[in-house]
Formats: sequence, structure tokens, C-alpha cells
Amino acid sequence: MDGNGRWATKRFLPRVAGHKQGVDALRSCVQACIDRGIAILTVFAFSSENWNRPVEEVSGLMDLLVLSLSREVPRLKANGVRLHFVGNRQQLSQKVQGSLQQAEAATADNQKLVFNVCFNYGGRWDIAQAAQQLVSSGQVITEAALDRAMALSHVPDPDLLIRTGGELRISNFLLWQAAYSELHFSDKLWPDFDVAALDEAIAVFRSRERRFGQTSAQLNSSGHLHPVKVA
Ligand code: IPE
Ligand code: MG
Repeated sequence: MDGNGRWATKRFLPRVAGHKQGVDALRSCVQACIDRGIAILTVFAFSSENWNRPVEEVSGLMDLLVLSLSREVPRLKANGVRLHFVGNRQQLSQKVQGSLQQAEAATADNQKLVFNVCFNYGGRWDIAQAAQQLVSSGQVITEAALDRAMALSHVPDPDLLIRTGGELRISNFLLWQAAYSELHFSDKLWPDFDVAALDEAIAVFRSRERRFGQTSAQLNSSGHLHPVKVA
């Protein structure tokens, strides 16, 4: 969800105003996913590297997370959304950790949309923590074992990965899981990424041929795809 800061700066507003507007865009995006029958949405809200931002912005983002959860969780709960927070929680304040736990507990029985919020997350962090789990329990490091130890092991790999804000990079998001994801880059700043922009991304995704290492002819003869899932 990139581009909040630029959205605000263009309007001579403080960056945190852009993050607030970003929450509104996310609310619409979650609803659009529900309406379209999308089962899983994973967003990158705060990266392991975002601690390097000015302290006011970091504390603004922490406060916005806690405030947004207190406002949004009742609606998410009513709409069948199950929240999961993915990332290193130990570095977060007790207050933030408590609010994440509460939000997860409140929505734990929901089944319509799995909504993963990556917060204090990094793709490298996830790979390293998964490897450490295997080492600590004396397991052999295989693709399948690492896959099971990943913080996102409760969901399959993403089909479509969207980055907003015009940058053409992954920036340490889902490094392991995006191996076969279709990538979509939008020039829209995140607060401007509306339902029409989401629909456009989905339409482009639908037009792509996903071969998962196979040939086009193989796909056309078998009539279905063989997603790569580590055995
Ligand atoms: C939101 O966009 C991403 C977060 C870390 C919350 P940015 O804050 O990176 O916005 P830009 O890239 O400065 O416009
Ligand atoms: Mg940015």
C-alpha cells in the first residue's frame, strides 16, 4: 500500500494524513474483496525497515493502527472478516500487541475473508525466523518444512501481487510466497487506489496465462493448471 506520504505532501498535508486516507482506501478494498468473493487479502502495512522513518511518523502509524482497529473491528467482525497480523510482534509496544491480539480474537470465528495485515514484517525476516524454528527443533531444512514454518503458512501463496505508488520493486514483501504470483504495478498512490483500480488489476490478472513452469501446450491439453506447491 505505497504512496500515502506523497498523496499527503501533494496536498500540503502532514504525511500521517495520507496514512489516514490510506485506511479509508483499505476499508473499501476489503469490502470490494468480500463483494467479489475473494477469499484472502494480504496487505503490507508496516515493514521491518519503516522503523527508520522519523519518530513522529512511526508513532503516528502505531497510533493509527490502534485507533483504526478500535473503529473497524466491529464492522470487520460483522462482515465475516478474519484478521491475522503477520510480523515480529516482540518489537511492538504492549499496547499495540494487546490491540492486535484483541482484534484477532474478536474475528477468529469468521470465514468469509482471511485478512492478513503484515505489520513489522519483512520477507527476509520471515524466511530467517522459519529457518531458525527448524534449526531449533532439529529439523532438516527443506522447501516444504520452511513453507510450513512461515508466518503465512495458514494461507496458500498469493495469485496476484499488487504494488501501488509507481515503484517497480517488491521491497521485501512476500519474498518466499510470491515465487509464482502475477505482479501488477499501479501508478496510483494507495489512497487513490479505488475499486475500479482493483477491478482493472483483476481483469489484467485474468488475461494472463499462468504456466507454473509448464509449457503453453501442456496447459491447453490438460485444461487445468498445476500450481507449484512444495511437496
Ligand atoms: C505507505 O506509503 C506505506 C507505509 C509505510 C504505511 P508511504 O508512506 O511509503 O508513502 P510514500 O511512498 O512516501 O508516498
Ligand atoms: Mg513509500
